[in-house]
Amino acid sequence: MTNCGKPVGFAEVKAILDLLVQGREDNLSFVHGDAFGWADKAMLVSAVARPFGADPAFRLIDPSLVGVGRAKETNIYIALTAGIGGFERMPFGGPYATPEQLALIAEWIDNGMPD
Ligand code: HEM
Repeated sequence: MTNCGKPVGFAEVKAILDLLVQGREDNLSFVHGDAFGWADKAMLVSAVARPFGADPAFRLIDPSLVGVGRAKETNIYIALTAGIGGFERMPFGGPYATPEQLALIAEWIDNGMPD
């Protein structure tokens, strides 16, 4: 999925993630820890989700899975599609990402997470 042949960029991915957590921003670092977020690309690259009150924490995007056709194995993708580590699908309680939004996130990761 591309817009006029332009590859998906960080801004589009950020917009999707922002929409998914809309109205619940204030709780996110409380729930997932301070290392969770996507204010900019660097933050998303290093982001970790600590499940509320539990261990272990999950790195959202393992760099070894970027740009190699393995986006669907990243923790962010698994969390947003099925839930990871026995935790519920995210965002908790929904509404969940649409298939189109998920495809766009996966495409971006498989493209090497371009700006
Ligand atoms: C990658 C691993 C992740 C794990 C293990 C995880 C786990 C959890 C857990 C355990 C909760 C608390 C549920 C409760 O209140 O009982 C939670 C809440 C939540 N998570 Fe995640 N999460 C992950 C990633 C994500 C991602 C990528 C997003 C969004 C893009 C997200 C969005 C949310 C939201 C919006 C809440 C509810 C916050 C609130 O309003 O209290 N999570 N998550």
